[in-house]
Amino acid sequence: MDWTGHMCGIVGYIGPQQAAGLLTEGLARLEHRGYDSAGVAVLGSRLQVVKKAGRVRDLVDALPKRFAGKVGIGHTRWATHGPANDTNAHPHVSADGRVAVVHNGIVDNAASLRERLTEAGVELVSDTDTEVFAHLIGLSTADNLEAKVVDALSQVEGTWGLAVVHADFPDRMVVARNGSPLIVGVGDGEMYVASDLAAVVRHTTTVAHLDDGELATVTATGFTTFRQDLTTTTTTAREVDVDPSAYEYGELADEPRMFTEILEQPSSVERALRGRLDERFGTAHLGGLNLDPRELRAIRRVKILGCGSAYYVGQMGAGLIEELARVPADAEAASEFRYRNPIIEPDTLYVAVSQSGETIDTLLAVQEIKRKGGRVLGVVNVVGSAIARAVDGGIYLHAGPEIAVASTKALTNMYVAFSLLALQLGRVRDLSIADGKRLIAGLQALPTQIEEILKSESHLEEVAARLAEAESMFFVGRVRGYPVAREGAQKLKEISYRHAEAYQTSELKHGPLALISESVPTVAIVPQDELTDRNVAALHEISARRGPLVVVTHPDVDLGELDALRVDVPKNEVELDPILLTIPLQLIAFHAAKALGHDVDKPRNLAKSVTVE
Ligand code: AGP
Repeated sequence: MDWTGHMCGIVGYIGPQQAAGLLTEGLARLEHRGYDSAGVAVLGSRLQVVKKAGRVRDLVDALPKRFAGKVGIGHTRWATHGPANDTNAHPHVSADGRVAVVHNGIVDNAASLRERLTEAGVELVSDTDTEVFAHLIGLSTADNLEAKVVDALSQVEGTWGLAVVHADFPDRMVVARNGSPLIVGVGDGEMYVASDLAAVVRHTTTVAHLDDGELATVTATGFTTFRQDLTTTTTTAREVDVDPSAYEYGELADEPRMFTEILEQPSSVERALRGRLDERFGTAHLGGLNLDPRELRAIRRVKILGCGSAYYVGQMGAGLIEELARVPADAEAASEFRYRNPIIEPDTLYVAVSQSGETIDTLLAVQEIKRKGGRVLGVVNVVGSAIARAVDGGIYLHAGPEIAVASTKALTNMYVAFSLLALQLGRVRDLSIADGKRLIAGLQALPTQIEEILKSESHLEEVAARLAEAESMFFVGRVRGYPVAREGAQKLKEISYRHAEAYQTSELKHGPLALISESVPTVAIVPQDELTDRNVAALHEISARRGPLVVVTHPDVDLGELDALRVDVPKNEVELDPILLTIPLQLIAFHAAKALGHDVDKPRNLAKSVTVE
């Protein structure tokens, strides 16, 4: 069985224009969500479907000259198992060729549904779970498309973001959401549907987010929403606060997205800070927390939950909160949290951190906490995303759209958001106004200091070329530097496919030192802080074992006789240093991947949002 469509992209159009071009353009904007195959269906005088393994441009090349229709749906796919071939690509069609569907999510009972359909004489042509939707809708005897779709959904267990067109109902699309995002975009005499704002933002920023369990009928002039029991709902479209130009890359359009996103950081950090600093009282103002000072004071513990790199930044954030607010704080992988029957405490503040706001493990952790009566804040980039809507309050990152699978600018803004939260929490407790002001000055210095780091790109390219030669390496750091090392190793692994293991520098001698040799380099994070001497001593131990060294450090740190490639980062306040120490590691990972000839933006086996457990 090929469990298709876990983290894919959906786009749909209905209106006065020819749909095909709009659909493929939308798909190209969603390609970061899935890039092993793509397809479109348009409904004109008949239903036509074209689908292709490979990239969206392969699909565009395969479109016939006559591919007319003013309503259509498209899909870009990322399969976790099974072959990515033309047949398994979406849209899938019913046996009579009158229904086409695109789907994100998983049909849990696909095996039994396929069996039932086969027994009923239906020939299933693909290996996918999605195909059952097309047949179930096609076989439904209900007399309108809405009821047919509901009929099908009532037999399906699983998750879906679904869009359906039917040759018998050419004036509409029906879409549905359950666990996989779906938005309806309102244009001028035309309508769009999509799994992601990026696909429609050039055409409209007036969108409705469907809720789980909701469906919508979309015609050229509007939409109506309803539940699976066919009762209507009142979901309306709103103007979303995004800048469409942030989705365009202008003169950098030919560069990998990861690179443009790294370069954007001075301005994206500035956006994260805008309007949130109170210089007079040395504090931050985070309007969306929905917590008054008394409630902030009553917090006894902070628990941060996220996945992958978001989890590592969560770990940095927990450190900051402990340091500045003196509240016990820790971070945990959201993917593990839910499964250990966690104790939810009423005076703990839970914080879910996620760029996409869609990561299913993080969302499920939020739901588990809320079910048990806990209070959850979101630190999220995508406005209106599932996590943003599920939490009690939060901080938007304002990083702008992040397209590259390897996250950079969103992580930086997560750290900025945690700094603001720690500052505000600290200032209702024992953090002095002087310390508050010191940190504000530090935060304000970040954009310029990031610019400075970006200027050292050619040196970092050389460092990356050296590291790319190694099959395996360590990234090490201590206390504040350890999550930096974890994130550095993660970035390198994701896109260069080199093995990189993060370790606490202090733990090396308890085991992994045995692996150090001429062919296993170490990237060491050595900030100028109370641990510098100990860090440098550990580096001597590595050097004595002939391990090549890259040291990411501050200009005033004396490395003595150490034989090392040095990367200097401008010094900020100790609490804020981790963010700056992370930036060169992004460029190192980027250049290592490039040197090895990899497609930086579309790393193998990965997708931008992981919407499956
Ligand atoms: C980052 O480079 C990774 N692609 C990945 O670890 C990511 O941070 C993780 O999947 C969480 O995503 P989120 O922030 O959208 O929740």
